[in-house]
Amino acid sequence: MGSASDYEVMSGAAQTLASFGVEYEEKVLSAHRTPELLAEYVRGARQRGTRIMIAGAGGAAHLAGVIASYTTLPVIGVPVMTKGLGGMDSLLSTVQMPSGIPVATVAINGSKNAALLAVEILALDNPELASKLDGFRRSQAEKIKDTTLPPAAR
Ligand code: RP5
Repeated sequence: MGSASDYEVMSGAAQTLASFGVEYEEKVLSAHRTPELLAEYVRGARQRGTRIMIAGAGGAAHLAGVIASYTTLPVIGVPVMTKGLGGMDSLLSTVQMPSGIPVATVAINGSKNAALLAVEILALDNPELASKLDGFRRSQAEKIKDTTLPPAAR
C-alpha cells in the first residue's frame, strides 16, 4: 500500500488471504515518496518467491501501474476511497493502464476481492486451495439462502 492510511482498507486483503492460509507480506511503499525503495522491492519479488502483488493506493494512484512496470508478476490494483473525489481519482488512475502493462483492478476499497482473485490465481495449480474456494462459495450461498427479512422489509 502507498501509505499507512491505506491500511484500514487493505487489511481486508490480509484477513482474506490469512483465512485461506495464503502467506503474504504487508508493505508500505510509495510510488512518489519512496520510488527507489519501491523499485528495489518489486524487482526482487519474484526471486523471493512472491507470485502475485496486490497494490492499494488512493488519489493519483499510480502505485499499481508503477509496480507492474517493474515486474511481470500479476498485479492487482485496489483503488482506495479518497475524501476529495470519493475514490474516482484512485479508480481511474489504477484501472486506465495503457496497453502493454496490465493491472487487474477491483472495485473502490475492494481489497477482499483482490485477495480472492489472488487466491483464484494461486488455485490454478493448487487443488487444496481450489477446494477451499469451493467451500467459501458454498458457505456464501448458504448465508444468502438462510437470510430471513423482517416483515416490514417484505
Ligand atoms: C497515496 O496517497 C496513498 O496510497 C494514500 O491513499 C494517499 C494519501 O496518503 P497519506 O497522505 O494519507 O499518507 O499515496
